[in-house]
Amino acid sequence: MSAVSENAVSMDTLVSLCKRRGFVFPGSEIYGGLANTWDFGPLGVELRNNIKQAWWQTFVHRRHDIAGLDGGIFMNPRVWEASGHVDEFNDPMIDCRECRGRFRADTLVEDALGSSVEGMPPGELDKLIAQSNIACPTCGKHNWTPVRAFNMMFRTQIGPVDETATTIYLRPETAQSIFMQYKNVMQSSRHKVPFGIAQIGKAFRNEITPGNFIFRVLELEQMEIEYFIREDAWEASFEEWLEAQQAFLYSLGINPEHLRRREHTADELSHYSKRTVDYEYLFPFGWKELTGLAYRYDFDLRRHQEASGVDLTYFDQAANEHFLPHVIEPTMGVERLLLMVLLDAFAEETTTDAKGNEASRVVLRFHPKIAPYKVAVLPLSKKPELSGVADEVFRSLQARFVTDYDETQSIGRRYRRQDEIGTPYCVTVDFESLEDHAVTVRDRDTMEQFRAPIADIVDIIAEKLG
Ligand code: GAP
Repeated sequence: MSAVSENAVSMDTLVSLCKRRGFVFPGSEIYGGLANTWDFGPLGVELRNNIKQAWWQTFVHRRHDIAGLDGGIFMNPRVWEASGHVDEFNDPMIDCRECRGRFRADTLVEDALGSSVEGMPPGELDKLIAQSNIACPTCGKHNWTPVRAFNMMFRTQIGPVDETATTIYLRPETAQSIFMQYKNVMQSSRHKVPFGIAQIGKAFRNEITPGNFIFRVLELEQMEIEYFIREDAWEASFEEWLEAQQAFLYSLGINPEHLRRREHTADELSHYSKRTVDYEYLFPFGWKELTGLAYRYDFDLRRHQEASGVDLTYFDQAANEHFLPHVIEPTMGVERLLLMVLLDAFAEETTTDAKGNEASRVVLRFHPKIAPYKVAVLPLSKKPELSGVADEVFRSLQARFVTDYDETQSIGRRYRRQDEIGTPYCVTVDFESLEDHAVTVRDRDTMEQFRAPIADIVDIIAEKLG
């Protein structure tokens, strides 16, 4: 092995690797696809599950103050009226009258002028677009419609007859079912303020300009916590959650230099937030939001209490008082984390092969806990005498770890494939194994190899994976 050179990966390279190796496929491809819809293949689903499991373990299983919930996607539409989403969950939309291109007006201005205008009202965006003479990125003309608010919630109908059907929404965030169930969770799990409710679930957003692969999608999965506190604890709790989010991102093996915090300006705060800080990741298309942390104060509980007429206050026995808890909300999207771990793990290296020739390899240096496969068993030949031992090794490893088995192609190509899908260890069964009851273990990152007794292989891999 020789010098290692690492390149930043382009999105095109990553998208093609994801398809070739079975992480992410374009949706409905045989019908020409459906823009910005994606399906997660055999390795993608393992990676998703590992990210979600790491999050759940960190924030639910390893804490005593957070309980889980799995709420439904459909909710009474009054939820979304009271939460402010019907009136406020809008993006500014603008159309080109010449080519009929449709854009998010704030993104259009940001791309043209290089400064953020998120949260700017439609009228001011109109003026800025006219003053700055911003052209349509598609056709180059200047014939714009006025900017108007576009509600991002997907609507559908419940009920069999059109005339009597009720419009309902596909939830745009998972948070609201937590607010709906906060008293039930608190009472059934006997939690006291401060405590949190965690949920992983799908949310849907009719984004005007989705894109950048899985960065901005229509159907996303969120991992959210609503953490209920007394009002006077909000600043300290906010700081603790900033640290906890950072620690979680680092625990996925992310390079700290690729992460930064960004405070929202007053203009861009969501309608429910008094303070928001994002973690941003350095994607190939720039620093972009990865996670959010919002101080939702008592906005949601107060609005739901007023709209429903149901008392949502918490009774503090020690202080003998009722109050509406305030809320700190750490949130992150599974697709963005998945894109981040793929990008951060990607490395293209120059090495030397067994004959001393220069060779290159692509390797996904996933943290072992999120790697789709932990180990792969590679019999050197398909001969039946090897298959028996290889199968025995495979079965013992598979009982403990997610294990791949591959007996096709040359061993060199099989190593390259396992590198490209980020498998931390390969176990090769060769003809010597029949004599010495040992196998060769290869380390993905160093490419170093050592011999290990078959009888100890499960313990050795477990120790190596940590
Ligand atoms: N409950 C608060 C909330 O929904 P948000 O900042 O709108 O806040 C939370 O969304 C997270 O969900 C984001 O930080 C991001 O990771 C993810 N997310 C939001 N919209 C997304 C989209 N269209 N595609 C992929 N992920 C998205």
